[in-house]
Amino acid sequence: MWRAATAGATAFSLMFLVLPIVALIPMSFSTQHFLAWPPVLFSLQWYQSFLRDRDWMDSVGVSLRVAVVATVLACALGTPAGIGLARHRFPGRDLLYSLIVAPVIVPVLIIAISAYLMFASLHLVGTISALALTHSVLGVPFVVINVLAVMRTVDVQYELAARNLGATPWQTFWRITAPLVRAGIIVGALLVFITSLDEAVVALFLSGKDAVTLPRMMWDSITRDELNPTVTAIASLQIGLVVAGMLGMEVARGRRARRPARPADADAGRTAGEGFLFAAAGARRGADLRLVNLTKQFGSVRAVDRASLDVRAGEFLTLLGPSGSGKTTILNMVAGFETPTAGEILLGGVDVTRQPPDRRGMGMVFQNYALFPHMTVLENIAFPLRVRGVRGREVEARVEEALRLVRLDRYGARYPRQLSGGEQQRVALARALVFNPQLLLMDEPLAALDKHLRENMQIELRRLHEHLSITILFVTHDQTEAMTMSDRIAVINRGRIEQVGTPAALYESPANAFIAGFIGESNFLEGTVVSLNGREALVQTAGGLRLTVSAQGVAPGGRLRVAIRPESLHVLGDGAAYPNTVPAQVEEVIYLGDVIKVVLRATPQETLVVKQANRKGLRPPDPGSRVQVGWAVEDARVLVADPADG
Ligand SMILES: Nc1ncnc2c1ncn2[C@@H]1O[C@H](COP(=O)(O)OP(=O)(O)OP(=O)(O)O)[C@@H](O)[C@H]1O
Ligand SMILES: [Mg+2]
Repeated sequence: MWRAATAGATAFSLMFLVLPIVALIPMSFSTQHFLAWPPVLFSLQWYQSFLRDRDWMDSVGVSLRVAVVATVLACALGTPAGIGLARHRFPGRDLLYSLIVAPVIVPVLIIAISAYLMFASLHLVGTISALALTHSVLGVPFVVINVLAVMRTVDVQYELAARNLGATPWQTFWRITAPLVRAGIIVGALLVFITSLDEAVVALFLSGKDAVTLPRMMWDSITRDELNPTVTAIASLQIGLVVAGMLGMEVARGRRARRPARPADADAGRTAGEGFLFAAAGARRGADLRLVNLTKQFGSVRAVDRASLDVRAGEFLTLLGPSGSGKTTILNMVAGFETPTAGEILLGGVDVTRQPPDRRGMGMVFQNYALFPHMTVLENIAFPLRVRGVRGREVEARVEEALRLVRLDRYGARYPRQLSGGEQQRVALARALVFNPQLLLMDEPLAALDKHLRENMQIELRRLHEHLSITILFVTHDQTEAMTMSDRIAVINRGRIEQVGTPAALYESPANAFIAGFIGESNFLEGTVVSLNGREALVQTAGGLRLTVSAQGVAPGGRLRVAIRPESLHVLGDGAAYPNTVPAQVEEVIYLGDVIKVVLRATPQETLVVKQANRKGLRPPDPGSRVQVGWAVEDARVLVADPADG
């Protein structure tokens, strides 16, 4: 019932819209001067009177010229405005947007009158310039609205990636942003063009005697002769054009959807030059990077707090920290996407703190790769070379070498969307390496890959690093990844670099409880120093356990925290003895394949986790049973309790 009603309403409004338009067409073939329905005889006289008439043809010429100029002007003004409004937040942005789109809200008559007053005082009424300028004002909103809509879907990372790869702001606009918003510009341009061709109100005021547009002419002929049937012929021609245009767009869309992916090996069989990357690597190692008291404040949030770090030339250093600790912010400042609130960044001894990203010569691999979607793999990798003015054979040879380096020699002709995540990752790597950057920045580049692929890529990256001996600043929140790949790790927490060291040093000598907890697992026991006995100290824990720990740096009566790795704890069988032994009850036994985890309750407020390597013949204790657990003095790390870490 409801459906029938909506269908009926739709059909009625369609009839109301379409019927008069369709009725025009038979009328245009009528022999009669008066509008008669049905038309009496077939005749082309009205078409002839249009096509053979000098005045009509002149008006078509004027309309086309006005529409072309108005479209070009509106696109030239509207495209940068749309992009700027999409990318920048500034005071008065909303007001500016309202002003730009006002012409679609303000009645055309008012615009026409004010344009008339202005151009009359300039003696420009009756010129194509006056009409085109006014039409472009009417058209700019179409371009801005469409460009803005498309920009919302374009990730800002593409532009950042382009700047990082060496493109100037202008190159970035021309090669990345403009092609990505092309669809918006085209739709906007079509709307401006059609609106201008159609426009009669402004033309009524501004056409004068010398710049009479087609709609103006049609208007005049209607009021003069009631209705000159020539108008029906013109309208029918216009309908024909619109239908042809719509069909053309449909065909183009269908063809694009059916276009097959280009064969993957279209670029095979070329010869390649050798050794751009490796030769350069042999001749020059990466540069050293130095951060001095780097600070970034976002409003009330201090994202990075006086971070100082020395990355040696050729080193693989990882920034490791929990989510929100400031890793990306540090990387963005190093790359030049964010300006530090305070502090300095030195690359190879040169202060680059205030340099724009494209001058820093650093490669960057983004978390979601930021491969340019409108370019093939080859074009993506060639991008940093082209914006540096490298041309011809050298580009080909270097791109080919970079592709071989990441083992994707045959993928050059594909588009990013035709690649798997792991392949995209490698293309991003090749693109960041192809111009021999002094430093490679990587922000969680493996996070999107599955476990197996991630582990393969970790090994691959290590291999590349050894090959090229380039400096790498890598970011991850995954401690296993950091331990696997890095020469050294800088652990960051709440914007502060807490400790820098080799994976082994961090694991074995964590500087504080945060690091002991973050790098691997630890059991923590808190207590007070009861007595000192030479090189050892006796500690009483909150739950009443008595522990012997190293006395280094410990004062009687001091509060401290003791960290013990789960694999350093031993569930004691017969005969084994440790200086520290506590009784405990088995709460849980968790089978993990390579290890078995045993959760023990030592006191009502203290639990201990033990990890036993799973070897043949190992019999884990039964849940509920009572056992003794022991550990060596040197396996308990004494940390001075940090009240902030609770
Ligand atoms: N543009 C910004 N405006 C305001 N606050 C920001 C901005 N960028 C980052 N922050 C804040 O700064 C802190 C650090 O963010 P950052 O992105 O550097 O963390 P991260 O270590 O990279 O985290 P993740 O592992 O989740 O990527 C966070 O508290 C974040 O909310
Ligand atoms: Mg991040």
